[in-house]
Amino acid sequence: MSFSSMEIGSLFDVKDKVVLVTGGSRGIGKMIATGFVRNGATVYISSRSAKACADTEKELNALGAGTCIALPADMQQLSEVERLAKELGAREKVLHVLVNNAGAAWGDSVDDYPDAAWSKLLTLNLQRVFNLTQKCLPLLRAAAEQGGKVGESYRDPARIINIGSVEGTHVPGHETYAYAASKAGLHHLSRDFAGRLGYEGITSNTLACGTSPLNYALMAHTLETTGDVITAAVPLRRVGSPEDVAGTCIYLASRAGAYVNGATIHVDGGSVVAKPTFVPKL
Ligand SMILES: NC(=O)c1ccc[n+]([C@@H]2O[C@H](COP(=O)([O-])OP(=O)(O)OC[C@H]3O[C@@H](n4cnc5c(N)ncnc54)[C@H](OP(=O)(O)O)[C@@H]3O)[C@@H](O)[C@H]2O)c1
Repeated sequence: MSFSSMEIGSLFDVKDKVVLVTGGSRGIGKMIATGFVRNGATVYISSRSAKACADTEKELNALGAGTCIALPADMQQLSEVERLAKELGAREKVLHVLVNNAGAAWGDSVDDYPDAAWSKLLTLNLQRVFNLTQKCLPLLRAAAEQGGKVGESYRDPARIINIGSVEGTHVPGHETYAYAASKAGLHHLSRDFAGRLGYEGITSNTLACGTSPLNYALMAHTLETTGDVITAAVPLRRVGSPEDVAGTCIYLASRAGAYVNGATIHVDGGSVVAKPTFVPKL
């Protein structure tokens, strides 16, 4: 062991890593992309809107220290997923970190929940994650090879990071049937990848995110309640922040997280382990 490898700058280094963040134009994906760009990575972001991608590219490049490159694609379409992987392959020889973040939600009552929600969410939130990961395997394998050989005392793996949800872990408090099922499926797919691709030096882990500032306002509106009631069910009594999601992804992508494979990390302030008897009545 070299002692310099135990220093923060080395343990959490993601400089010069090549990263793809789907849904990186806004929301949680943009938070994750920002964390990687700020720390010197080359980050490709993708979403349907070419303009939103271009705006975020410009904004993140102005921040530095790394680079942001927009590659718009509609992940609902298999042909677009294939094009995205092909365009990435035309620009890069390796992909160190694939962040499968693009996703959508759909809430409705059990009586009215439409069939369209199932086909949209199971496709985008689950099936396309498989498709994109499959199409990116040559680039991920090349990154794994660059990271060392099987049997060496340390091998820097390529990483797949899947953005799941607490709703894929516990039964949600509100009605989001296809969404919760798609995220539960994603958590399982991530473990399935981990057991298979780990042998090739590619890890797969999930961030099961809790409430972020983005859906906080929406939840407060939909549930006709106040923010205090929403955070009451979170032991740490706040919503997630950009640092929470970006920091966990950087941990997983760096030397510090290199031996973590098949994990579901709840980035949720403890909402899935909250004790109902301790939830304050507001
Ligand atoms: N926000 C939360 O509190 C929360 C909690 C738990 C889990 N999550 C998960 O975190 C991920 C991001 O959520 P978010 O809240 O940041 O969502 P968001 O603000 O709605 O952003 C979604 C991102 O995905 C892109 N996207 C949507 N449909 C797409 C498609 N068909 N093809 C390509 N890109 C598409 C969007 O861009 P375009 O519209 O331009 O396509 C956008 O960049 C999702 O997987 C979500 O389930 C979020």
